[in-house]
Amino acid sequence: MSSLDHIVRRCREGRREREGAKAVAAVLRALVVSPEDVEEAVGVAVEAGETTLFTSPELTVSRLVWAPGMAMYPHNHGLWTVIGVYRGAERNIVHRRSERGLDDVGTLELRAGDVAVLDEDVIHSVVNPVGELTAALHVFGGDLTRQPRSEWDATTLEERPYDGDRVRRLFDSANTAARAHRRKEAEDQR
Ligand SMILES: [Fe+2]
Repeated sequence: MSSLDHIVRRCREGRREREGAKAVAAVLRALVVSPEDVEEAVGVAVEAGETTLFTSPELTVSRLVWAPGMAMYPHNHGLWTVIGVYRGAERNIVHRRSERGLDDVGTLELRAGDVAVLDEDVIHSVVNPVGELTAALHVFGGDLTRQPRSEWDATTLEERPYDGDRVRRLFDSANTAARAHRRKEAEDQR
């Protein structure tokens, strides 16, 4: 049994601890083992998108839903981040600034039930490697909506200011492609 208030309260309590990210990770670990309870609190994901569930100067709680096969280009948060996947899977590729823009320095494969902590200087890109929606709670150690951030062009790896509208367009086109794919599958089955 879970509600959004309960999730936010637990995360805020964790945030106040000396090692806030670790404490929030423990909170998410306890939550993501019961995806039905998370969905009761935050709703069942029906399409890709980013939903801010709570924000304060100390903490942001978001739900990230990735379409099948969707990829999000490199970006940073400038805040520590705890990711808890409760449906599907997330492949996080971790990058480091280099002379040619970015180098890949590691991969974090997260499946439903997995939780990971990213330090505040991490640059990552995300792929949904499975043929279903992936849903995850992402908790940030500050107000992500006011945080100066960067993103990197997927092809040229050029750094530019983070553009929320571009991200929304990415989710929109992923949803359009997913709908077209489902239509095609339904037609093929006729
Ligand atoms: Fe991210």
